[in-house]
Amino acid sequence: MNLASISENHNVEKRIAITPEIAKKYIGLGFNLTLQNNYGTHLGFSDVDYKNLGVNFLDNKDEIIKNSEIVIQLGLLDEQKLLLLKENQTLIGSLNSFLNREKLENLKSKKINCFSLELLPRITRAQSMDILSSQANLAGYKAVVEAFQVYERAIPMMMTAAGTIPAAKVLVVGAGVAGLQAIATAKRMGAVVFATDVRMASKEQVESLGGKFLTVEGSENLETEGGYAKEASDEFKKKQEELLSETLKKIDIIICTALIPGREAPKIIKEDMFKNLQPGSVIYDLAAVQGGNTVFTEVDKIVEKDGVKILGEANILNKLPVSASNLYAKNVFNFISNLYDKENKKLNINLEDEIIEKTLIR
Ligand code: NAI
Repeated sequence: MNLASISENHNVEKRIAITPEIAKKYIGLGFNLTLQNNYGTHLGFSDVDYKNLGVNFLDNKDEIIKNSEIVIQLGLLDEQKLLLLKENQTLIGSLNSFLNREKLENLKSKKINCFSLELLPRITRAQSMDILSSQANLAGYKAVVEAFQVYERAIPMMMTAAGTIPAAKVLVVGAGVAGLQAIATAKRMGAVVFATDVRMASKEQVESLGGKFLTVEGSENLETEGGYAKEASDEFKKKQEELLSETLKKIDIIICTALIPGREAPKIIKEDMFKNLQPGSVIYDLAAVQGGNTVFTEVDKIVEKDGVKILGEANILNKLPVSASNLYAKNVFNFISNLYDKENKKLNINLEDEIIEKTLIR
């Protein structure tokens, strides 16, 4: 089978879907692999690195797409490239099915198989394919590094002859995959860490990393069967606001990660809560693209409000694209290995397999 990937627009996406390590694995499985010239050059992977493994290179994106049976990307292709896809071709990536619903329905009506990997079920068998987890993990780490860099004080407690510097106090809002990695990273660098979430299961996880969990008193557990958060009630939101407002008086850095799948991110840090933060405090909002967890977040800008800096980027993974690509490429390879019938050398779209059933756009 012919498998291919074309270069993304590097102004918005620096990650790649196929690294040399993974190219070798696809070729080992029997795929013909074609990439666009200079596919990984910006990340230090030369065409020669790939060619030595048996990868073909072309310069014309349209030709690459037309001649492939499976196209693997980071996100959805642009409109013009989508028009090139034909019946029975397969497109795999993080296709953002909630935002791109109409385009995906259109592809489905043309009998193009689209697998959107952010829809993977959070089950044990899918863990090695879980792009949301691998990328969120890196994002959680990098958000802390970015926030600490902007913060104009030291993070760990330091006792010196000239006096003591207190440890920075970090609040992590949302303790899912990104939040837990943020807690671990901040702890490692010596911060005192607090965290909150609407899912009670996260309390134990936060505490096991040495964080202090802030429980909204009397609240029900807002977890769906799939392990995601439900929209909180007005009563919960009010209690959470009171709890966080009080906590913010002692917080220096906030890492926001709270998301509800398919919806705008919950606004958790409200305008009047800012008066409780000290000037010089920093907020990194990983939910920026989904609308942000603070009322002032703006994508790709550092907003300053009463001396508090609020950061949030469209794609923080562009700041560690090699690590992110290594994990993404491996996730997608594991997904395709599960989809590929090695004996008959074709894709086996078996809808009885929960992984395939949940990710195929139907
Ligand atoms: P996510 O990225 O959708 O959301 C991030 C966090 O924000 C979640 O923990 C969510 O509960 C929290 N949140 C939402 N609204 C909030 C609010 N108003 N206030 C405070 N926190 C709020 O979630 P993510 O990181 O993708 O994790 C979802 C679930 O999937 C978790 O339960 C995680 O443990 C589970 N998981 C399971 C895996 C498995 O294979 N079994 C693999 C990876 C994740």
